[in-house]
Amino acid sequence: MKTIVIYNSQTGFTKRYAMWIAEAAGAECFELSEAKKKDMAAYDAIIFGGWACAGGISKLGWFKGNIIKWTDKKLIAFCVGGSPADNPEIEPALKQNFTEAEFEKVSVFYCPGGFNYEKMSAPSKLMMKMFIKTLKAKKNKTEAEEEMIKIISSSYDISDKKYIEPILECLNG
Ligand SMILES: Cc1cc2nc3c(=O)[nH]c(=O)nc-3n(C[C@H](O)[C@H](O)[C@H](O)COP(=O)(O)O)c2cc1C
Repeated sequence: MKTIVIYNSQTGFTKRYAMWIAEAAGAECFELSEAKKKDMAAYDAIIFGGWACAGGISKLGWFKGNIIKWTDKKLIAFCVGGSPADNPEIEPALKQNFTEAEFEKVSVFYCPGGFNYEKMSAPSKLMMKMFIKTLKAKKNKTEAEEEMIKIISSSYDISDKKYIEPILECLNG
C-alpha cells in the first residue's frame, strides 16, 4: 500500500511520530506545506498528524477539506499532545474535531508528546503562560489540576515509539 505521512509540528514531537510511522510503514513523509504540492492520487493511504492546541488538532483543515475527494483511500489522523495517553478527556476532544460522517471515514489516534518550551513560538509560550496563570488562580483546584500545573510549567518528553503500534495495525489491517 503506497502511503504518505503528512505532519504539522511546532516543537518536533509530531514530526518525530510522523517519521517513526513512515519508517515503520515504508511510507513517504512530508511536512504539510511540502505535501500540499504532491499529487495525492498517487497514494492508497494518507496519514495526517497535527499537535493538540486547546483541544483542536493543528492545521487539520486541509486534511478535512479533502476527505470528500479521498473516498477510495485509507485515511488516518493522529494528534500529538502534552497529555498522557490515559487522560479520559482525549477521546471526546479528538472526536469534536470531526463531523460524524468524517469520523466514520477517518481512523483517529492520540500519541503523547510533551512540552518543549525552548522550541515553542512566542505566541504559544504566552498562551501557555496565561493558561497556567488562570489555572493557578483557580480556587478549590482538584488534585489533577495541581498536578497539571506542576507538569506543564517546564519542558518534558513522554513520547514513545510504542504509541505508533495501533496506527500501524490500522494501516495494515
Ligand atoms: C497553546 C498551546 C495549547 C495546547 N493545548 C493542548 C491541549 O489542548 N491538549 C494537549 O494534550 N496538549 C496541548 N498542548 C501541548 C502540545 O500539543 C504539545 O506540546 C505537543 O507535543 C506539541 O507538538 P509539536 O512538538 O509537534 O509541536 C498545547 C500547547 C500549546 C503551545
